[in-house]
Amino acid sequence: MTSTDTPYPPGFLWGGATAANQVEGAYDEGGKGLSIQDVMPRGLMAPPTDGPTPDNLKLAGIDFYHRYADDIALFAEMGFGVYRFSIAWSRIFPRGDEAEPNEEGLAFYDRVLDECEKHGIEPLVTISHYETPLHLAQTLDGWVSREMVDHYARYARTLFERYGSRVRYWLTFNEINSVLHAPLLSGGILTPKDQLAPTDLYQAIHHELVASALATKIAREVAPDAQIGCMLIAMPTYPMTPAPADALAVMHADHLNLAFGDVHCRGEYPGYLLRHLREIGVELDITDEDRATLRHTVDFVSFSYYMSVCETADPELRQAGAGNIMGGVPNPTLPASEWGWQIDPVGLRVVMNQFWDRWRKPLFIVENGLGAKDELVEVDGVPTVVDDYRIAYLNDHLVQVGEALRDGVEVLGYTTWGCIDCVSASTAQMSKRYGFVYVDRHDDGSGTLARHRKKSFGWYREVIRTNGGSLVG
Ligand code: BG6
Repeated sequence: MTSTDTPYPPGFLWGGATAANQVEGAYDEGGKGLSIQDVMPRGLMAPPTDGPTPDNLKLAGIDFYHRYADDIALFAEMGFGVYRFSIAWSRIFPRGDEAEPNEEGLAFYDRVLDECEKHGIEPLVTISHYETPLHLAQTLDGWVSREMVDHYARYARTLFERYGSRVRYWLTFNEINSVLHAPLLSGGILTPKDQLAPTDLYQAIHHELVASALATKIAREVAPDAQIGCMLIAMPTYPMTPAPADALAVMHADHLNLAFGDVHCRGEYPGYLLRHLREIGVELDITDEDRATLRHTVDFVSFSYYMSVCETADPELRQAGAGNIMGGVPNPTLPASEWGWQIDPVGLRVVMNQFWDRWRKPLFIVENGLGAKDELVEVDGVPTVVDDYRIAYLNDHLVQVGEALRDGVEVLGYTTWGCIDCVSASTAQMSKRYGFVYVDRHDDGSGTLARHRKKSFGWYREVIRTNGGSLVG
């Protein structure tokens, strides 16, 4: 492929993504309150602690709070046209229930936006990325409570009023469909998952969906140029065998994921979800006002893509996949990362076509990447990582994005996950690295925090420079 026959359209937004809780650190600076992440030192691997503990790598993160200007300059050096970051809710409303925001927190993101603007980088802001204020989790059990809708709406309104003229692209909730599987991470729900009644879980989901639509409604009023997107985990599901029962198992699994996009794009609950709720005996409290709010649909659909899975109706073939929070059965034909996430570039094209065919909204791929153990070496006296495995992973996925573009799918842009190494969401490790930039910090908390360009840094710069023309496929 040469730059003249690239399928990527002019103006395609290339960049990278991070989340506040995984990079910022400074967990108690600038008036910030605690978030659920400050008591999750093992991510999803162990229950939360009573308070912040020294072994929680997220408390210091990669010190983006103090180094944001240098880090954004590195993104600019790669040619980023877009940088996706999240705002830490507990920096703006430290407990979550205050009437007035914390000015110091707001001012921090003004400075981040200043840096983006200085380099001509378009910001893409996630309003809530797995970082519910801890106080709201402790006092309300997170999104189980309807009160969360008001707290979130006040927070979203504050952001739109403050940054609405500077930020065009907004995401309401990171991976909103993950709440089914990770209620604390995604819903701020402290009740352990195995003790959570289905009615409470689905009511929490309903509250998040209403809050998401309410954010869209508020944005239309106070930030008319804003483009609002939902954000989903995209996980194409294949039947394990050709048995019709397996096709049905795929349909059911798909429905539970796609329902979130259906509500965001169509403005109402799909019939199959209402049936599912009836069958599991869940009666939701849905008001007429909720129904009216849900009518405020999104402008675009964003998603993360890491893996596909299989489904089957055969209990003997059903075994959980390693490291996969969303369930599903491992695919015997696919390789996996060191953390058991199965690698399937073609699945990205499949899911992009599925989303486009279903919703006809522009797509934004806001996470994709390979978590791997990197080794820092010296090449010509310069510390670096020779991450050919990451280059191969990203190349192969981007070739499939190109195929989807040729299929006619409309795509706004692509941001790799963890464009700079950060603390993992699922395992809370530093050693699960995704970045183009190596950060000298380790699982035991040691390290200088120095930044080093990996081999993939130059590779991605070339991909961006050629608008995908340098991809090999
Ligand atoms: C997504 C999240 O699930 O995947 C990110 O939105 C997360 O926050 C990313 O970091 C990769 O997952 P992990 O567990 O490898 O960090």
